[in-house]
Amino acid sequence: MKKLIAPSILSADFTRLGDDIKAVDNAGADWIHIDVMDGQFVPNISYGPIIVEAAKKVTNLPLDVHLMIVKPDLRIPDFVSAGADLISVHAEACIHLNRTLQLIKESGVKAGVALNPATSLSTIEWSLDYLDFVLIMSVNPGFGGQKFIKSSIEKISALKKMIDDRGLDIRIQVDGGVNNSTIKEISSAGADVFVAGSAIFGTSNYTQTISEMRKNAG
Ligand code: DX5
Ligand code: ZN
Repeated sequence: MKKLIAPSILSADFTRLGDDIKAVDNAGADWIHIDVMDGQFVPNISYGPIIVEAAKKVTNLPLDVHLMIVKPDLRIPDFVSAGADLISVHAEACIHLNRTLQLIKESGVKAGVALNPATSLSTIEWSLDYLDFVLIMSVNPGFGGQKFIKSSIEKISALKKMIDDRGLDIRIQVDGGVNNSTIKEISSAGADVFVAGSAIFGTSNYTQTISEMRKNAG
């Protein structure tokens, strides 16, 4: 499976967001990761559908919307209309996870489930048939620039095994503390989509950073 780099615009410069999105697009990014936080599911508030709509105007890359919100079902239609190409919801925020995933897929958008570091893989065991990707959170969600939680490596390997044993075609995305020192091990464990915020937008040469990440991911 092709390894993909997904810059998280949470760490972009919001005074010139369009330019930053175009810059990572030109620098070789594969997806644009958009973190939506509601101040309830996570202790921070970020942005909503209007930022997805704005991003759509400046790039043709797939827009990967990570919903860190309660009751995501109520908001999914708004993010679909805004132009999301992929949507992930948190298992911890869904009462009927499979129903939520079906709602995403019926909208013509790829569906993912995100798992907090404390959440077991068993949560998604009976949802695998509905999934295009699983997002393993390698920090507690809410903020950029946190340190990668080491035990995530074991979780990624276990998920990879779970997917391969069933012969499924599901991507493994990793989010939080991904940078050029951590990406190699994350990739070897079986991940194939790498979200990085501060590691990309915190540098001055996006092209160099992204190509190094690609090289390190193998
Ligand atoms: C955290 C978000 C991440 C965040 C990652 O809750 O889901 O996407 O932007 O930031 P870094 O790459 O700086 O850890
Ligand atoms: Zn994210």
